[in-house]
Amino acid sequence: MQNFAQKVAVITGAGSGMGRYLAILIAKAGGDVVICDVNKDSLAETETLVHRYNVSVSSHILDVADKDAIKALPEKVIAHHGKVDLVFNNAGVTYDSSFENLAEEQWDSVMDINLHGVVNMTRAFMPYLKDRPEAAIVNTSSIFGMVAVAKQSVYHATKFAVRGFTESLAKELKDSSVQVHCVHPGHIGTNILSTAKFNEDNEKGPGISLGLGPKTREEMGDAFKKHGMHPSRAAEIILQGVKKKKARIFVGLDAKLIDLSQRLMPTHYEKLWPLFMLPLFLFRNKKAIKDT
Ligand SMILES: NC(=O)c1ccc[n+]([C@@H]2O[C@H](COP(=O)([O-])OP(=O)(O)OC[C@H]3O[C@@H](n4cnc5c(N)ncnc54)[C@H](O)[C@@H]3O)[C@@H](O)[C@H]2O)c1
Repeated sequence: MQNFAQKVAVITGAGSGMGRYLAILIAKAGGDVVICDVNKDSLAETETLVHRYNVSVSSHILDVADKDAIKALPEKVIAHHGKVDLVFNNAGVTYDSSFENLAEEQWDSVMDINLHGVVNMTRAFMPYLKDRPEAAIVNTSSIFGMVAVAKQSVYHATKFAVRGFTESLAKELKDSSVQVHCVHPGHIGTNILSTAKFNEDNEKGPGISLGLGPKTREEMGDAFKKHGMHPSRAAEIILQGVKKKKARIFVGLDAKLIDLSQRLMPTHYEKLWPLFMLPLFLFRNKKAIKDT
């Protein structure tokens, strides 16, 4: 796909972080945007931001865990925009907890958003995308879809599954007009940690336990946001990946190095991570891109 002008893009989780900037950058490139989020207020903020561009915008309060709401969405999009060319399955959450302390309903809630949301959106929009001369499905996994750490079992289960689902789908659609991409961000400075749910056994990250840096959960969320790549830059990298038809889109040097670590040491990759600290410190990029 060479450009996004005159395309119609559906974006879930568009109220914050990478989803918001995907919407802004597509609108800036002349594409119409269908912004969806479960959070009404942050969605309205994104709507104001994309209205600065001369494109058609529709805004939908959508919980991606709600299968029926997803089923009803394509008709609404076609009624407003006449077509759909790209779907960004970006909405996602995490739950900080050991597996032992994670209640069944807590597990299910993350699976419903991070995995079933992606699958149901893909199912609902695929027939419309296949009708277009060029189209794309862009599913957000994580670098945590390549490697695992403790106390994130449900997040890993969903993100490894999104990767498996997306890679299989890419093979099925390789002779069609639909490009299929899997996105693997590293550390991006968004609200994902400040809004994350947690159980007591993972309330304190390592920084808090060691008495270094953040002292409260709130400070930890702020530090995560401050030290990560700016989400506008992440969105730019994702869109470049779509233009270049990259099957796997790694976002950030940290994501690339962590991926390398699991290729070199498939089961003990974390032993290599201390070696990455210096290059990551030297090449940190927290700058927002211009005009966003
Ligand atoms: N930030 C990171 O470091 C990072 C790293 C790897 C992967 N990711 C993934 O990137 C994606 C975007 O995350 P982000 O970092 O921009 O986070 P974010 O918290 O800033 O944005 C996520 C958005 O999804 C929305 N959302 C949550 N539950 C929803 C639901 N049920 N239905 C619809 N919308 C819902 C939230 O309201 C929010 O606006 C997620 O899938 C996340 O797992 C993030």
